[in-house]
Order: sequence, then C-alpha cells, then structure tokens
Amino acid sequence: MKEIKAIEFKDNILYLIDQRKLPTIYEIFQCKDYKEVDFAIKDMVVRGAPAIGATAAYGVVLAAKEFLNQDKKDFLGNLDKALEVLNNSRPTAVNLMWAIKKMRLLIEENRSLSNEEIYVKIKKEADKIFEEDIATNKAMAKYGNEIIKQGATILTHCNTGALATVGYGTALGVVREAHYTGKNIFVYADETRPRLQGGRLTAWELVQEGIPSKLIADNVAATLIRDGKIDVILVGADRIALNGDTANKIGTFMLSVVAKAYNVPFYIVAPTTTIDFDIETGKEIEIEERDSIEVTHIDGVRTAPEGIEVYNPAFDVTPWENISGIITEKGIIRSPYKENIMKLR
Ligand code: MRU
Repeated sequence: MKEIKAIEFKDNILYLIDQRKLPTIYEIFQCKDYKEVDFAIKDMVVRGAPAIGATAAYGVVLAAKEFLNQDKKDFLGNLDKALEVLNNSRPTAVNLMWAIKKMRLLIEENRSLSNEEIYVKIKKEADKIFEEDIATNKAMAKYGNEIIKQGATILTHCNTGALATVGYGTALGVVREAHYTGKNIFVYADETRPRLQGGRLTAWELVQEGIPSKLIADNVAATLIRDGKIDVILVGADRIALNGDTANKIGTFMLSVVAKAYNVPFYIVAPTTTIDFDIETGKEIEIEERDSIEVTHIDGVRTAPEGIEVYNPAFDVTPWENISGIITEKGIIRSPYKENIMKLR
C-alpha cells in the first residue's frame, strides 16, 4: 500500500498536499501561521471532514507558537481570536468545530500555566487528534469490510480517502480494506461536480493503489444502479444529526434516492467525531455555499455565459430513511439511529 500523507507537521510548519492541483501537479503547500491554515481550509488546499479537523488543530499550535512571547493576557486573547477564525473557516463539517472545541477546553483548563506549558499541551493534543484519526479509520475499515461481499461492485462519491483524512480514509478506507483482504472488488467513482473530488482525487488514489475501478460522470450512477451493476454504495459524511440525517458532498442525497428505489444498500462511513450530538435533525445543519466560479468555470476556463446566476451548495442532507447503516470505528449503527447513537456516547 502506498502511503499518502495529506498532512504533516514538522518543526512548526504544517505541510499539506495541495489538493487544488492534483492529479496533474503534486505540490506541497506550507503553512507557517494560523492565517495560512485558515486560507488552506477555506480555499480547499486541504478538504474532507477529518482532514480539516486535524489541520485546524495544528492551526491552533501555530497560533500558540506565534503569540508565545506575549504577556499572558495578550497570549490568551490572541489565541482566542485564532480559535474563532479557524472555527469559521468552513461551516458544514463538524469535525472542524469538534477539534477547535477540544482545543478551547484544553486552553480553558490550563489558563494558570505558563505560555510555554500551554503550547506544549496544545501540540500534544493536536498530535493525538492526528494519530487517533488513522487508528479510527482502520477500525472503521474492518467493520465496513464485514458488509462487503466477495466480488462486490462498490459505488462511491466525492473523495473519502487518505487525502480527506489523516490517512487510509473513511468510505475509501473500507474500499482499501476490501481490496487488500482479497475481496476482488470493483469500484465506480463518481466524478463529483463541481470540484471533481472524485475525478481528481479518488481516481488518483485508486490508480496509486491499483484498485480495479472506473471513473464515471455523476449522471451515469442512476443507470448503473437501475441495471443491477452496483452491489453497495459507500459514502463519507461531514455532519450526522442524532436522528441519522447526514450531510455529505452535494449529490449524495440524489444517489440515496435512486439506491432506495432499487434496493441497493447505502452506507455512510464516518468516525463518531462526525456526529453532532447537539442537533436533532439534518434541518439544523448549515450548508456551505461556495463561489459561482466553481460552476461557471472548469480549470479556470469559462464554460457558462457571463451574467448567468449560479446556485452552488457544497453539501446536501440525506434523510435517515435512505441510509442502511452508519459504519463507525465503534461498529455499525442502524435504525433507530438516535437510540443507537446515544448508546455510543
Ligand atoms: O468539500 P469537501 O471536499 O471538503 O467535501 C468532502 C466530503 O463531502 C467528504 O465526503 C466528507 O468530508 C467525508 S471525507 C472522509
């Protein structure tokens, strides 16, 4: 298995594979302060729910480093501002808010320590978030692999691989596990307009690993499902409400509707850090709207006429009724979701 390191923190520099440029250019983007981290998340140098959680945590480390020599009051005040900036860098994936909340609590509990001691604690916490993500993904992959039949054809959407996490991946982690345990799987990867995370990133990971697969335009999926060519659909998640409603990349909801119509199992693969225990249903999830240029242009080339208005939500919510199960690092959660999610807490 080839190791893809989307995120690396060394000597107070955060190194990110620049996902805006893959697959044609492999380039590392360096963040030396928290404002560069904020930019990297906003501009999607790094993306994917678990990946932006870990990235934001290192953003807090960089902020603590930057303000280290200030007096205590300024150090804490500026750190607080940095937490706010990072918390608002993208609105939908709850892993980001989860990581920032963890950091905020840690700082709160250790206010009486020296700046240096607080910095050390923050760095340790960020490293823990980073390391736990890989372990979590491997645990999820094992549970997920239990539902993958020998020779299965899997459909996936967006990019949920090593690039979207610290390593291994969520839905694509299950794909990796099935492949490496000799299940002889075949993968169809949705291109995932408008930013093409499937066509650019998932396809890149599948090729790197030599996993048998084909890339399809998004509008091919329904035909494959109707024609009995898909055994199971695996997607990731950006935020899961207590009732099981799940926000994920735009187009996921549409897939779930077709899957339900043709009785194809539809699974979410996500760590428990993607569950928002503060919201009851998907109606409470803020859906990010991104710049119209993502729809009017492809690779900087205009494909739509000047003057056209654009609606560009980055995510949609799949209702719990369309979901066969949520594969987590603690096992597979099935309906009734609220009851079973609460048991995990
Ligand atoms: O806008 P993106 O690329 O950050 O969206 C990513 C997704 O929707 C993924 O499916 C989700 O974060 C799960 S990734 C492990």
